[in-house]
Amino acid sequence: MKRSYRGTVAILTGGGDTCALNRSIETIKNVAYLLDYRVLGIYAGWKGLLGDGFIVDISEQSINGHIGGSILGSSRTNPYKEGQNRVDEVLSNIKRYGIDIIVSIGGDDTNGVAQRLYKEHGIPVIGFPKTIDNDIKTQTMHHLQNGQSVEAALCPGFPTAARNIVHLTASLRTTAMTHNRIFVLEIMGRDAGWLPASSALGGADFILVPEVPMTEERIQRFYDLVRYMHDHEHKDIIIGVSEGVRWWNEKSGTCDVIMESRELDAFGHPRLGGVGAMIANRLREEGINQPRTQVAGYIPRSGRISEYDHQVASALGQMVLKMILHEQFGHMPVLDHMAPFREVEAYNTKTIPLASLGNKGFPADVYYDESRFTVTDHYREYLSMLIPEPPKLPQKIEYSKFLPD
Ligand code: F6P
Repeated sequence: MKRSYRGTVAILTGGGDTCALNRSIETIKNVAYLLDYRVLGIYAGWKGLLGDGFIVDISEQSINGHIGGSILGSSRTNPYKEGQNRVDEVLSNIKRYGIDIIVSIGGDDTNGVAQRLYKEHGIPVIGFPKTIDNDIKTQTMHHLQNGQSVEAALCPGFPTAARNIVHLTASLRTTAMTHNRIFVLEIMGRDAGWLPASSALGGADFILVPEVPMTEERIQRFYDLVRYMHDHEHKDIIIGVSEGVRWWNEKSGTCDVIMESRELDAFGHPRLGGVGAMIANRLREEGINQPRTQVAGYIPRSGRISEYDHQVASALGQMVLKMILHEQFGHMPVLDHMAPFREVEAYNTKTIPLASLGNKGFPADVYYDESRFTVTDHYREYLSMLIPEPPKLPQKIEYSKFLPD
């Protein structure tokens, strides 16, 4: 017998992928189906609502939330792009496919579109956070062990990416130790330092984040510290550097990002990259033995979801059930406060208006030690909730030299 539905919920994923997307889709689909909604997937983000539309019916599909990526595909499509406004196509497809509610899984660009559709056209939307950059203002508090509190952020996708960076950094140490090399590990995260800073838990000796620009003085101090560690402590050094770090530019007299390409995406972002190789070159010029660059690239975004991320996506998905029931549109479910694994439950979630969504940088004043170019214990505390069992860091064994009798 054909099932009759009370309405249609459509889900989309936009922006760079993360390992938590399929779990987010799975849990949202399950709650919507439980409430008797037909569940459609909009293919490749907002792009799936342009032209004739690209829509799939996932109501009765089983989804494996353990695998990264998105079964719905993704793109950085902006129907509001200046000079190429295609909002009319989006609106007509929403009508044509009988979509009653859209759940938009994305960062602030994708959800910014959702917010405009809600505000300007009354489309019932629910935003759902995702990003490996962790740069959405989720208003998630971190109550520090010392009794103080800091406004942090926690977006599904970030916990897995941070775990992957921690493991990657720890792994690099064995080759660095063997060859007595410096590794500059360039890490994604765009304009936010959350992800690069997670390399601390994998044993990075120095970390550079976009929130603290590398002025002429800081660059000099940084190289002095690296040189000191290399000459007096150990020659195997790992530097975790953000792809978006601002570097002193003699020509412009300002601190600028290093771009891999000037080509902009639909939301106006350039492609960042190249700072790691630049640092390694400078170290080589300073006579340091064989510095190497490793670009973490897409590894943090790939593979299987971490347990913590799985829990976060599930808890936020449960909140979507309430939001659909109470018709609480124009909002997004988020974690209320940072919590260890067992406390990441629906009761630790809240909703925030999409209108309040913005970019949330890494709070360097609390989490970063500017003078030592590394993270503070407060950030280690934050990370240890997401990654309770970090890898054991390899230790160098120093044998004493054997001399003939
Ligand atoms: O926003 C997520 C992110 O992975 C950033 O960290 C990175 O700068 C960008 O996307 C890479 O974009 P693309 O997937 O288009 O190469």
